[in-house]
Amino acid sequence: MKPFLTFFACLFFFVFTAALSVNEQNEKAGLIDKQVKELLSKMTLEEKVGQMTQITLQAVSKIQGTKDQAHQIDDAKLEEAIKKYHVGSILNVYDVAHAIEYWHEIINKIQNISKKETRLGIPILYGIDAIHGTTYTKGGTLFPQAVSIAATWNTEIAKQAGEITAYETRASGIPWNFYPVMDIGRQPLWSRLWETFGEDVYLASQMGASYIYGAQGNNIGAEDKVATCLKHYVGYSYPFNGKDRTPAWISERILREYFLPTFETGVLAGAPTVMVNSSEVDGIPGHANYHLLTEVLKNELNFKGFVVSDWEDIIRLHTRDKLAETPKEAVRIAVMAGIDMSMVPYNFSFYDHLLELVKEGSVPLSRIDEAVTRILRVKFQLGLFENPFPNKDLSKKFASKEFTDANLNAARESIILTKNEGNILPLSKNKKVLVTGPTANMLSVMNGGWTITWQGNEETLYPQEKNTVLEAIHNKIGKQNVNYVEGCSFDKDINTNKAVANARNSDVVVLCLGEPTYCETPGSIFDLTLNKAQLDLAERIAETGKPVVLIMLEGRPRLITSIEPKIEGIVLGFLPGMEGGNAIADVLFGDYNPNGKLPITYPRYPNGITLYDYKPIEKFDGYDYDPLWPFGYGLSYTDFRYSNLKISADEISESEELTVTVDVQNVGKLPGKEVVQLYLTDKYGSVTRPNKQLKGFEKISFNPGETKTMTFKLNKEHLSFIGQENKRIVEKGDFEITVDNLKKKFRLK
Ligand code: BGC
Repeated sequence: MKPFLTFFACLFFFVFTAALSVNEQNEKAGLIDKQVKELLSKMTLEEKVGQMTQITLQAVSKIQGTKDQAHQIDDAKLEEAIKKYHVGSILNVYDVAHAIEYWHEIINKIQNISKKETRLGIPILYGIDAIHGTTYTKGGTLFPQAVSIAATWNTEIAKQAGEITAYETRASGIPWNFYPVMDIGRQPLWSRLWETFGEDVYLASQMGASYIYGAQGNNIGAEDKVATCLKHYVGYSYPFNGKDRTPAWISERILREYFLPTFETGVLAGAPTVMVNSSEVDGIPGHANYHLLTEVLKNELNFKGFVVSDWEDIIRLHTRDKLAETPKEAVRIAVMAGIDMSMVPYNFSFYDHLLELVKEGSVPLSRIDEAVTRILRVKFQLGLFENPFPNKDLSKKFASKEFTDANLNAARESIILTKNEGNILPLSKNKKVLVTGPTANMLSVMNGGWTITWQGNEETLYPQEKNTVLEAIHNKIGKQNVNYVEGCSFDKDINTNKAVANARNSDVVVLCLGEPTYCETPGSIFDLTLNKAQLDLAERIAETGKPVVLIMLEGRPRLITSIEPKIEGIVLGFLPGMEGGNAIADVLFGDYNPNGKLPITYPRYPNGITLYDYKPIEKFDGYDYDPLWPFGYGLSYTDFRYSNLKISADEISESEELTVTVDVQNVGKLPGKEVVQLYLTDKYGSVTRPNKQLKGFEKISFNPGETKTMTFKLNKEHLSFIGQENKRIVEKGDFEITVDNLKKKFRLK
C-alpha cells in the first residue's frame, strides 16, 4: 500500500463501526461481482450504452415546477428515455424543490417503468445535489454549508450532517448524492469556495471522510444511506483568475501534494462515485484527461466505483474547449479518458454517438463493459435491484426535531468570533439594539446556493418558521428592544441616513453585511472587497460612536479591512444554514459560547492572498503572512492556557511513532470548547517546505478551571511530502511541532 493511503486510512478506519462485518462485506462484494457479470452477459450494446447515459429531469418534463406552478413529468418522453434509450440515470429538479410525496410519485413512476417495462428490469439511479441537506425536498434539514461545517473543526458534526442528509435524501426516494466537494478552497475569489471544507488538506480530508462515513456507513444498501460522489476531480478549485470554470495551472507535484489527497481519502472512505472537474488543468480539460482519470484515479488509487461527467461537459469538449472537432469525437475522447457515465443532460446525443463509435470500432467493447460493470456494481450495492422504490416509513423522521436540534448544534459550533474589543460581547439582554444591513432579515443569505433552488435566491420559498438574524434577536430580547432599518441593499444605499439616526438612539448596533446567494459561475466576481454601499453604511454607523457588532454572512471572505478597526465585535457566520439566525443570536447574547475556528485564511488585502502554509520565500525580504485573521483562528468567551508540551523522544526512526502531549486548561469563568491544533514544520527539505502544516486537531469541552491532557500521534506519513520525482517521500532531518505558542523540536534519523 502506498504510504499516503495508509496515512489517511489509519486516521479514519478506527471510526468505522461496522453495520456489516468484514466477512459479510466480502461475501456481499463477491456476490455482487457475480450478479454484475451475469447481467452484463445478457445485455445488448444498446442497453449498455444506455446505462452510461444520464439525463436531467428537465428532459422528461412537460411543465417546469416553479413557485406558482406544479411540475409535471412528460410520460411519453420518460418512457422513451427508459425504454428506447435505456438510460441508466436521471438527475436534478426542474426547477424548485418538490414535496417529499411528489418525489415518491416521480421515483415510483420511473422505477415502475424500468422494473416492469424493460427487458432486464435494471433500476434507474436517481442523483441529486443534496449539498448541505436535502436541497431539493421541501422542508428538508438544511445544514451549514461545507465551509461552515469545516469551521466547527468537529468531525462528529460532519458525520452527523452526512447521516441526516443521507436519511432525508433516501427518504425522498433518492439514493445518490453528488456530494461531498473534496476540492480544497485555496482560491478565495472562487464562487464555490463555500462548497469546500477550506484551504487545508488535512482538515478537508478529515471533514470529508467523516461526512462520507456518516452518509454511507459501510453499507450503502442500508435503507437510510446513500452513495456519495467525490467532486470535482481534480484541480477545479484553483482557477488562477478566480472565476469559476477557468483554467488552473497545477503541476503534477503540486496536484499530488495539495489537490489529490482529499480525493484519495474519499476513495478510501468508500465513496463509490466521482464527478469530473468541469474546467481544465494545464490545458487539458478534466473530461479529456486520461492520465488523471484512468492512470491515477482508477489504476493508482484503485477506485472501483464509476466516474460521472459534470453537466454537459462532454459536449463542451467540442463547443467550449475546442478540443474535439465534432460532438462525436468529444464522446470518444471522454469515454476513452475514463468517464463511465455522461451527464449529457438534455438529450440522447451521447447515446447515439457512443453507439456509432463502438460499432465502427473507435471505442472498444471492453471499455463499455468496464464502465457498465462499474455502474451496475453501484446499483447492486445500493440494493436497487431488490427494491428501487421509496420507503415511505422514512418520512417519519424527515425534518424531525431531532434533526433540527443537530442542525442548530452544527450552526452554533460553526460561528466564529474574531474580534471582541473591550468584551463588547456577549451583549446584555436589556439593551436597545439597532439591527441593520442587507443580511439581517433574510434566510437565503445564511444558506447560500443549492437551497430550494440552484441559486438559492428565492427568498419567498424559504420556510417562514425559520428565523433570520433579526427574528432570532426579536425572540431573544423582545421586539420592543429592537429597531430594524435596512440601511442598504448588497450594493445600493436604501436608507443609510435613517439607520444612522436610529443608531444614535440605540445602545448598540448589530450590523449584518455580506453577500447575496449564488452558485457556480453566476457567482464569479472581480473584486473580493465588500461592496461600497455596505462599507459606507458601516463607516457611517461607526461614526456615531455607538458600539458596533458586525456579522458577516458570506460564501467567501469579502474584504472588510477598512472598517475592521472601527468595529468592536466581529462574528463570522459564513453560511450557517437554516438555524443560523438562532445560532448567531445565541452567541450574541451569551447563550452559547463560540468555538468555531477559521478553516481558511481571511485576507487583509485583495492581492495579499497568502495561505497559512506559505513557503519561506513568501516571508522573505519584508513580505509577510499578514491576513486579517489567520487559518485556525477564533475567539471564545472563556480563555484557554496551554502548557507542558511534551514529546516521547527527541529522535525517531521512520518506523517509530512520536507521541505528543499537551495540557490545556480553561482558565476563564465559562464552560467552553477549544480546538487543539497541532502543526508540524519540516525545517529543511529537497522541495521547499511550508511554514507549517496542520497534522492533528481535536475539539473538546472544558468546564471552568478544568485541565485536560491531549495526546496526538505522529508517524512517518505525517512527515512525508511529494518529492521532486512526484512520489511521496520522507527525508531525515529536523522537525518542529507547534501547539498554540508552544514548540518542540525532534529529529528523524
Ligand atoms: C455542478 C456540479 C453538480 C452538477 C449537477 C454542475 O453544474 O458543477 O457540482 O453536481 O451540476 O447538478
